Amino acid sequence: METRQWSIVTGGNRGLGFEVARSLVARGRPIIIAVRDEAAGDRAAAELRAVAGARVEVLRLDASSGDSIAAFAAEVGARFPGQIDLLVNNAGIFIDSFDAPSHAATVATNTDGPVDVTLALLPHLARGARVVMVASALGQLGALSPDYADPIRAAVTLDEVKAAARRFDPGSPLLKINPLTPSYSVSKAALIRAAQILAEAPGFAAKGITVVAVCPGWCRTDMSKAAEEKTGAQAPHTAQQGAASILAAALETGSIPNSSFSHDGALLDWTAKPALSVTGEG
Ligand SMILES: NC(=O)c1ccc[n+]([C@@H]2O[C@H](COP(=O)([O-])OP(=O)(O)OC[C@H]3O[C@@H](n4cnc5c(N)ncnc54)[C@H](OP(=O)(O)O)[C@@H]3O)[C@@H](O)[C@H]2O)c1
Repeated sequence: METRQWSIVTGGNRGLGFEVARSLVARGRPIIIAVRDEAAGDRAAAELRAVAGARVEVLRLDASSGDSIAAFAAEVGARFPGQIDLLVNNAGIFIDSFDAPSHAATVATNTDGPVDVTLALLPHLARGARVVMVASALGQLGALSPDYADPIRAAVTLDEVKAAARRFDPGSPLLKINPLTPSYSVSKAALIRAAQILAEAPGFAAKGITVVAVCPGWCRTDMSKAAEEKTGAQAPHTAQQGAASILAAALETGSIPNSSFSHDGALLDWTAKPALSVTGEG
């Protein structure tokens, strides 16, 4: 019988998102890649459709724009109503500076984006669907100073967690303990807390939807290049290995429970320090 269930991968045109999309296609799952550049999306889709039997759609999404998220959700609702059983919120950015505009852009894309995409798609998710937030070990609370870690940890609503991440303090001790990825770490810590809040939210529980966060590990993609240049270290994992870690969180529903944070199929303690220093992704 033909499946009517679709998976959505945001930022599916390159990097880890493309590899996640490729693995899902190889497993025979119909996929939608959500991309901000449709030409790049079409090129990626052409490559993905080379797999025999592949079903690949491209939809436009700028995950940092409320208008774009609303238009995207409306299109999903019109074309794939109730048919989304996996949402991988993968789109993300890393900006190598700590200033107000960079911080705002980082949080808008890495925290607000995945949260708002998830909320907008809730009516169109199938019962028992899975939502995966692609976070990072750099979002473990041990990578943050208490002035950022404590309010993010204490947040009980999505508005609170977004506000805690959005606050920009150029004099924060954060910069001292985490000189390389301060805003990125804040944005991903807040994303992990947001995943926990969504996982317990009544609208999600009522449809049996699970929400988890995952760290793909430090992988060789366009994003890792800045950190590689700065640290002189090479990211240890391929993009395929990072995608496998994301897929473990997406598909190993028995061992990766609702509300969890994991890497490569093993649970991680969000409150701990990253295994590697904040000079490189763990
Ligand atoms: N690579 C690592 O070592 C590593 C480690 C931990 C976590 N992660 C996380 O894994 C995810 C993927 O990272 P990556 O390494 O694959 O990065 P990447 O190669 O830089 O790819 C990022 C993807 O996100 C898309 N994107 C960025 N902003 C967007 C927006 N506003 N709306 C829609 N799409 C947007 C990009 O689209 P365009 O092509 O249009 O720019 C691209 O498809 C990110 O969330 C990242 O934080 C990566």
